[in-house]
Amino acid sequence: MAKNIAVIGAQWGDEGKGKLVDLLTAHCDAVARFQGGHNAGHTLVTGGRKTVLHLVPSGILREHVVCVIGNGVALSVGALCAEITMLEAQGVAVRERLRVSGGCPLILPSHAALDKARERALGGRAIGTTHLGIGPAYEDKAARRAVRFEDTADAAHFSAALGEQVKFHNFLLAHYGAGAVDFARTRDEILRAADDAAPLMADCGALLDALIRAGKSVLFEGAQGAMLDLDHGTYPFVTSSNTTAACAAAGSGVGPTAIDGVFGITKAYATRVGGGPFPTELHNEAGRLLAERGAEFGATTGRPRRCGWLDAAALRRARQVNGMTSAGLTKLDVLDALDPVLLCTAYRRRGEVVELPPAGAHALAECEPVFEELPGWKTSTAGLTAFDKLPANARRYVERVEEAAGLSMDIISTGAERGQTIVRRNPFLT
Ligand code: GDP
Ligand code: IMO
Ligand code: MG
Repeated sequence: MAKNIAVIGAQWGDEGKGKLVDLLTAHCDAVARFQGGHNAGHTLVTGGRKTVLHLVPSGILREHVVCVIGNGVALSVGALCAEITMLEAQGVAVRERLRVSGGCPLILPSHAALDKARERALGGRAIGTTHLGIGPAYEDKAARRAVRFEDTADAAHFSAALGEQVKFHNFLLAHYGAGAVDFARTRDEILRAADDAAPLMADCGALLDALIRAGKSVLFEGAQGAMLDLDHGTYPFVTSSNTTAACAAAGSGVGPTAIDGVFGITKAYATRVGGGPFPTELHNEAGRLLAERGAEFGATTGRPRRCGWLDAAALRRARQVNGMTSAGLTKLDVLDALDPVLLCTAYRRRGEVVELPPAGAHALAECEPVFEELPGWKTSTAGLTAFDKLPANARRYVERVEEAAGLSMDIISTGAERGQTIVRRNPFLT
């Protein structure tokens, strides 16, 4: 039976969503991004070639897959065009298979300027955003003053709406002591890019609905991760969209009944980019080893990622807020050199043991991890494709994580390449 599944990050982003979405699209007909923007950086490695995607869904390398950028995505048309050019240079027929919702709110250069100005003004309390304008663009969407992709179809209407936006942004920028943004330059830049992208504009909800009704399989690709969700994450150290599976429907134009399952992805350890509490963070040799072996540098900003042990308490929250029906564990091979391997099973807060992360950053910052120590395996698991070929201690670690998080690790990744994967149960086939 064809299935429609949301694939989401279960931590603080960068869990390896790109790798597993690319793998899973062998078994589906369409992939839809439903939130976030070009703050995402999803890495695909096929045949030794690395492709980093920011806006284009991670099914684009599969010729049989229709890719959709849903209305929930905050769209930089400039970034989209740059990504299309990059993919076309690799010989990918992007324009034949990519469709973009007219309802996407646009990210303007003035949103990026505001993002930077606000972060600067926050000083030591900065969120550590990607500086790409994501937050300000979603603010304008919620305030009902955003310019949307569909507005670019009528240059006069677009110019009037953009004029209002830029005037307001320049008022805010002046407050932060930042330079004004030039209206005419912004207008010309966006209209040029929008003209290039115009043939891709489509009624994406109707398109996905038709596919689903015809018995096709759709994968809804999340960006960021549960702990960066605007409502359920470590607020205010979060991104400005709902990263959790419930948003897959609203952000792509179908109803919640269209979604049959939720596949959540976690690394075998934890990372976080930017500010905010991170209970299992390491500042020692083990942390340095994780960063080095996992090549933990942001795929979008190049910033070093903070590294720590896997947090099963946070995973339990991710399972709950997403309604995860199955899970994937990535980068198991990165742990090959570590001994022992620690797993956070709960927190201690104000003398009490708590099983789930409390709401918000302030309370989470008071939590100390309760660790369980497991023996390492000190053997390479790189590239293994069968669970029973894993060293016994690696299997024991996976099983302990499953037990602690209440999840079944149906796919285990042992390398960045598409094929370096153990598939125990494919969520699209069972
Ligand atoms: P995403 O944002 O969730 O798509 O993840 P990113 O692409 O930002 O970061 C994941 C990084 O880990 C990328 O560089 C991937 O190529 C790499 N990666 C994914 N799975 C594995 C794995 O199992 N082992 C190793 N060593 N690297 C992996
Ligand atoms: P993918 O899809 C990791 C983080 C930023 C910052 C916070 C807010 O590759 O997993 P924003 O620019 O969104 O306002 O920044 O969110 N962040 C990510 N961290 N992976 C991502 O995406 C991220 N997208 C945003 O570092 O802490
Ligand atoms: Mg990433």
